[in-house]
Amino acid sequence: MPSNRSAFVDDKGKPLRVADSAMPKPGADDIVVRNYAVAINTIDPAQADGFQIRQYPTVLGHDLAGEVFDVGSNVTRFKKGGRVIGHARQFRFLQVSQKTEPSACIRAFLLAMQPSYLTACGFYEEGYMQLDLPSLDAKPNGKVVVVYGGSSSVGIAAIQLAVNAGYRVIATSSSNNFDLCREAGASDVFDYKVETVAGDIAKAVCDDKFVGLYNAIGIPESFDVVTPIMEKLNGGFLANTKPLGKLPNFIDAKFVLGVGDFGFPVWDNFITKALESGKLKCLPEAKVVGKGLESLQEAFEVRNGDVSAQKVVVEL
Ligand SMILES: NC(=O)c1ccc[n+]([C@@H]2O[C@H](COP(=O)([O-])OP(=O)(O)OC[C@H]3O[C@@H](n4cnc5c(N)ncnc54)[C@H](OP(=O)(O)O)[C@@H]3O)[C@@H](O)[C@H]2O)c1
Repeated sequence: MPSNRSAFVDDKGKPLRVADSAMPKPGADDIVVRNYAVAINTIDPAQADGFQIRQYPTVLGHDLAGEVFDVGSNVTRFKKGGRVIGHARQFRFLQVSQKTEPSACIRAFLLAMQPSYLTACGFYEEGYMQLDLPSLDAKPNGKVVVVYGGSSSVGIAAIQLAVNAGYRVIATSSSNNFDLCREAGASDVFDYKVETVAGDIAKAVCDDKFVGLYNAIGIPESFDVVTPIMEKLNGGFLANTKPLGKLPNFIDAKFVLGVGDFGFPVWDNFITKALESGKLKCLPEAKVVGKGLESLQEAFEVRNGDVSAQKVVVEL
């Protein structure tokens, strides 16, 4: 008989408790994944500290790589034994349906058939930056996106998705991560700690049309640099990965989530083929903190510390 184990959060801030748990049964649109590795999303340790958790015990988790163990009756795209990466939407489930039962079921549409660690980005939602969707044969479209925080996990995914839709990407990072941003496809990279960064970016945009800035870092301090960049670019749209404070009128800003129905075409039509063909690279590199659910607590601590150009991962 197959068995299942989970890392339970029993109460706000309590250390994770690893124990046997019920084997999940997929709903009609779900699949059950046997996880081989999980990446620690910044939201996981925050949720372990009680963020948005309404009932205990609960099981956390967002970013996973594994093998299809069981499929729901409506699922045709995934077969038992197929390798998948996915975003389990624990946070979204909690928000939308107040679902509090620990579950390893995930909606089939947020999966791609390749092992990797990838964070999806909120580029596409209606009324937001509304970039063209990525494709395997995108041609340069003469438009520019600025990705602030290009060496972060979210930033590297943002660079790659925009480049694969034909946009030229100008990124920021520390100088030791310039090569990484270029490997992801950025045409120009500037150090956000250098005083001339705003003017340098404006110059690099040149005659291309600036369509928006994706602030992958999102925290309030980042606006000390992001606001002057937007001013030099004469304002425009800004997508932010964190909730926003008050900003000058010349910035039309929105908080973006990496999860929503807008992710469907990206996951369904692009990610699997792009990983297979090398159009999407598995960046940044994984920092494997340990093996087994027992290593998750340490991985949360590593994730809460200084992370530069690495994805914190636990193998299972
Ligand atoms: N809205 C959503 O759905 C969603 C989903 C996932 C994550 N997030 C948020 O997105 C942000 C990025 O997450 P992540 O996992 O991609 O982060 P990450 O990989 O841990 O980011 C680390 C990078 O951030 C850069 N950095 C740190 N402080 C900076 C600053 N003040 N200005 C510019 N760059 C700075 C560093 O670049 P250098 O080393 O090159 O200096 C470092 O490489 C977090 O705030 C996270 O909470 C939001």
